[in-house]
Amino acid sequence: MQRILITGANRGIGLEFTRQYLERGDRIFAACRNPDAAAELHALADAYPDRLSIIQMEVTDDASIVAAADAVRRETKALDLLINNAGIISHGERIDNLSRETLMRLFDVNAVSPMIVTQHFINLVAKGRSPKIINITSGAGSLENKDEGTFYSYGASKSALNMFSKTLANELRSRRIVVVALHPGWVQTDMGGRGAHLKPERAIRSMIQLIDGLKKNDTGRYLQWDGRDLPW
Ligand SMILES: NC(=O)c1ccc[n+]([C@@H]2O[C@H](COP(=O)([O-])OP(=O)(O)OC[C@H]3O[C@@H](n4cnc5c(N)ncnc54)[C@H](OP(=O)(O)O)[C@@H]3O)[C@@H](O)[C@H]2O)c1
Repeated sequence: MQRILITGANRGIGLEFTRQYLERGDRIFAACRNPDAAAELHALADAYPDRLSIIQMEVTDDASIVAAADAVRRETKALDLLINNAGIISHGERIDNLSRETLMRLFDVNAVSPMIVTQHFINLVAKGRSPKIINITSGAGSLENKDEGTFYSYGASKSALNMFSKTLANELRSRRIVVVALHPGWVQTDMGGRGAHLKPERAIRSMIQLIDGLKKNDTGRYLQWDGRDLPW
């Protein structure tokens, strides 16, 4: 049984990670910013009352992260896996309508917040068994593959997250904590839309297998859902 914290766990990819890890017997701390509205998580908590804790966390709010870390610490001495999943996108960006506010907001949620969340949970992760930190990035963060589309804020924020992941991997190597930037594929969620290639069930099943198999020397990789490396 793994002890796992997932951010943005109330819908989409985070919810499906929560569901599948619960199904196979893991202990889940499902973080979301509005627990009262998290109907699917409450249904899962009814089904798995001993293994699911719903934790309030707004990832851009330090006080909320601190309170979440305290809440998790009251229930476990260690985390084996931290999945920084919460993220946002902005559509329709062009050079003539770019806004500082949107650019900063996406950097905050997608790149800065995973690092600050990690900072507050690192001591719990360091005590885990074969501990891992998974930053859910995007193929849109790849500079090499950037040959179409705009998505200024989203792409650049995920590139920043990739750099943060690699930097964190370097720092945490001596503590034997594996850090990977993982692209979930194009998945049918509110963000991915109905036309996306992958159903959450398949993408998450594949990522869980991939995460299970990660070894010490995988740290610092930029991978996608099916195990293939992505070019930075
Ligand atoms: N779907 C895809 O095709 C795709 C492709 C590549 C990468 N990704 C990445 O995968 C991750 C999950 O995406 P998704 O498709 O599941 O998106 P989604 O369906 O839009 O869900 C996003 C999740 O992030 C949470 N969130 C957003 N801002 C937050 C904040 N400030 N504090 C706490 N939680 C916050 C949302 O909570 P609320 O319900 O409270 O808003 C929600 O739980 C993201 O990092 C995304 O960039 C997705």
